[in-house]
Amino acid sequence: MKVFKSKTELATYLKGKTNIGFVPTMGALHKGHISLIKLSLEQCQYTICSIFVNPTQFNDKNDLLRYPRTPEKDIKMLEEAGCDIVFVPENDEIYPEGDVLKEFDFGHLETVMEGKQRPGHFNGVANVVQRLFEIVKPHKAFFGQKDYQQLCIIKQMVKQLQLPIEIVAAEIIREPDGLAMSSRNALLETEERKQAAGIFETLQLIKSKSKELTPTQLLQLANDNIKKYPLIHLEYIVFANAETLQETIIFDKNISIIMFIAVKLGKVRLIDNMLLAS
Ligand code: PAJ
Repeated sequence: MKVFKSKTELATYLKGKTNIGFVPTMGALHKGHISLIKLSLEQCQYTICSIFVNPTQFNDKNDLLRYPRTPEKDIKMLEEAGCDIVFVPENDEIYPEGDVLKEFDFGHLETVMEGKQRPGHFNGVANVVQRLFEIVKPHKAFFGQKDYQQLCIIKQMVKQLQLPIEIVAAEIIREPDGLAMSSRNALLETEERKQAAGIFETLQLIKSKSKELTPTQLLQLANDNIKKYPLIHLEYIVFANAETLQETIIFDKNISIIMFIAVKLGKVRLIDNMLLAS
């Protein structure tokens, strides 16, 4: 596996190569990330992973400082998975001095859920991903449905900028107790980690009742179920149209509905989602 720190050296190496699959990450890799690498290996000739903890997408400075960093372990996992290239840029490779961020307009997509809770977050995500796309020039780029709203934003960005890149969505990879794998899970205290399983339990419970109860009853049930876990502080739990992310409390059998949840356990913020009906 080749490791690049310099964007110029990477771009030179990639020049003329076709069928490049790209997996952008912020490191502290787990099986969720590796599932994206495997998808890319199946579908593309060259698989490149980037590891860059992007400061512009953190609206909370402490979250950025606390974000787990495990560079040696990451490189080892990527090597074992068969990844071809890893790009680990320093900050000034991506954000040269004096450089200004682009202001994207994603309309409704960035004003709901994570966009509402984390102002500026998606603009930071779009800026870094656009810059990484410019360096790597991938043919396909792989994103997890765990960050479903991010996936919608990236698809929209590709459309707006008319980039010739196919965005591939990957399933959520979970721990044995159902907790969606996340780099932030490593920051949970023992008891918080145990109670975190309540997130998936709630999503599954709601899915199992989604045909017999009304959306309002389902939301009540979700809220009541989360209360069984005193360490879980609910930020939001909503139903939204899978395409537009418009929040809804009316289910229409022609529309795919996803249930989205964001919680805090101690200082750690976690998100998850589940397709209810399609
Ligand atoms: P990060 O949180 O490291 O995630 C990198 C990719 O892995 C994202 O596409 C994310 O959705 C996916 N992923 C994370 N956990 C997953 C899981 N349990 N199952 C499946 N896929 C999972 O998302 C980011 O980094 C950043 O915002 C980034 C896109 C790299 C821009 O900085």
